Amino acid sequence: MKNGAYYINNILIANKTYSLPSTYTPGLLPELNNAFEKLKNAAAEDGISLKIISGFRSYHSQNSIYNNYVARDGKKEADTYSARPGHSEHQTGLAIDVNSLMFDFGETKEGKWLQNHAHQYGFIIRYPEGKEAITGYRYEPWHLRYVGELSKELYNDGNWITLEEYLGITSNYQN
Ligand code: DAL
Ligand code: ZN
Repeated sequence: MKNGAYYINNILIANKTYSLPSTYTPGLLPELNNAFEKLKNAAAEDGISLKIISGFRSYHSQNSIYNNYVARDGKKEADTYSARPGHSEHQTGLAIDVNSLMFDFGETKEGKWLQNHAHQYGFIIRYPEGKEAITGYRYEPWHLRYVGELSKELYNDGNWITLEEYLGITSNYQN
């Protein structure tokens, strides 16, 4: 625990099991910004345009986002794709959404480029396809988590290892 945040093997964890306090407001961290700049420039050289559409979120902004989804789709459904306040990785300052929140983004050339190159710049696809029961969330081809050097190991030749698997932790709400 540091400032109310859980670190496991020096990795800050925010998932359904581990939450952050409402006072945790780091903003988007410089190490992520620097890595994203490199990722974006490398993508541009391949004719791929990347932009951040959601970065740091406070507890309060996550609360509004989640509650809007609950009002639209109900709590059970919302829990499959939106984190409850306190539980979003966007609150860590180490996660971003890029380009598009369309579920077929993974099939676009930008989505495919990310699948193949994000790990070279310290990012992981945090909620991979097929790992929904482990991460607790639907596939999100646009959501990148910055983990530094560890990204290369988690890439696993495109068969992403989730942080839950790597650290041997759960992602479940208590209620
Ligand atoms: N969409 C991700 C899970 C979040 O709300 O943080
Ligand atoms: Zn996200």
